[in-house]
Amino acid sequence: MSIVERYSKEFAGSSRLYERARGLFPSGITHDIRHLEPFPVYVDRAKGSRKWDVDGHELVDFWNGHGSLILGHCPDDLIAAVQHQITRATHPGACHALEIEWAELVRKLVPSAERIRFTSSGTEATLMALRIVRAATGRPKVLKFTGHFHGWHDFVMPGAYQPYDGSPPRGVADPVVSDTVVIDPNDPAAVERAFRDDPSIGAVIIEPTGGHWGVVPVRGAFLHALRELCDKYDRIFIMDEVITGFRVSPGGAQAHYGVKPDITTMAKILAGGLPGGAVGGKAELMNEIEFRPGKPKIRHPGTYNGNPLSAAAGISALKRIATGEPTRLANDAATRLKRSLNEMLSRRNINWCCYGDFSLLHLMPDYDWPRPDNDDFIPYDGSVRKLDAAKNPKRVHAFRQAMLLNGVDLPGTGMFITACHSSDDIARTVDAVEKSISMLRDDGLDAA
Ligand SMILES: Cc1ncc(COP(=O)(O)O)c(C=O)c1O
Repeated sequence: MSIVERYSKEFAGSSRLYERARGLFPSGITHDIRHLEPFPVYVDRAKGSRKWDVDGHELVDFWNGHGSLILGHCPDDLIAAVQHQITRATHPGACHALEIEWAELVRKLVPSAERIRFTSSGTEATLMALRIVRAATGRPKVLKFTGHFHGWHDFVMPGAYQPYDGSPPRGVADPVVSDTVVIDPNDPAAVERAFRDDPSIGAVIIEPTGGHWGVVPVRGAFLHALRELCDKYDRIFIMDEVITGFRVSPGGAQAHYGVKPDITTMAKILAGGLPGGAVGGKAELMNEIEFRPGKPKIRHPGTYNGNPLSAAAGISALKRIATGEPTRLANDAATRLKRSLNEMLSRRNINWCCYGDFSLLHLMPDYDWPRPDNDDFIPYDGSVRKLDAAKNPKRVHAFRQAMLLNGVDLPGTGMFITACHSSDDIARTVDAVEKSISMLRDDGLDAA
């Protein structure tokens, strides 16, 4: 039986739900990256590093709430905090003490966020960050990097997805596109040229470990170079820590690399797996949102800003993260997983490799260069075109189905590792990757 035939048979409960969903939602889904042919998997419940689908399969999970769950699914203390709050007020339509406690924790961990404004998502956070830049500097343009994702609003869509050929993202108006300048990452000279040649660029925004959480890794030297160039040319440095915040270290990538941005955008782990985001930064910039007698301000409503349920979850998560232990456990598990995968791939002479930093890993199929020989290894010397090349969707879908059939749920070829991933999870995952690659071979899908 082929992979897709087995998947369709063994995940029949998901198939039935999809029949109801596909007339309701475009492609039957509510988030693009959950798209899976011929139908996606429907999950019933989750705990720790595992989740269970509607057919009762127990799956080792590497989605972890699209990266929002470094503590794993449903930690008892976080659930208790949310349950306590839900009986008191889900939305008081008023200021509340939890939003203060939440922001105090954020500022303790991320001191560059001198002032903070909560939003409902990471997309809203980067939208506000760019608006603050325009208001504060009068410069309309933003510089961003090929393959770097900062949410789905118009200003950050250019260069976020393939093809990286400058074509405007569908539905985004040309004048907006022309205010977003896209260059390849890891090239300080190109950044300097852009700043020098175009005074209408007000800021640079970056995913600090690399686009799409490190497909093309960025390391500290480039972040330091950006800081220096922003100081030299008087531009604003926005670090988008929506994924890396509270993950790479308790204080995010900026604390790990010792680079202080002017503005930080946050979401995901910030709210402990509930919806929420934040923009934080220098007081003089954040004060653009402040009511100031006789001065104009940026308006910022938002029904769910600082929602108390998200605040309760966020406080619970951040208190644990502040100890440093979750980051250490997640990073350790990721390193062990990366080494075990590369050891198996090398032993079996399979031309794939695993790479990535901190608790964010990626699998690279069809890798015909020298094999990884250290933990900092970057395939193809970091080439954007090679690392972030278009993939054969049929094969990507078949690999995901094969991994599900082998008891592991991967977001494509990436992995968000949590503090809960155990040695048993690692062993199961290595075994699942080995079996899945062999299933691809049996289906004639072993080449790109
Ligand atoms: C780096 C980065 N910035 C911004 C966003 C957008 O966040 P949200 O999905 O909460 O709107 C994401 C989402 O994955 C992200 O990875």
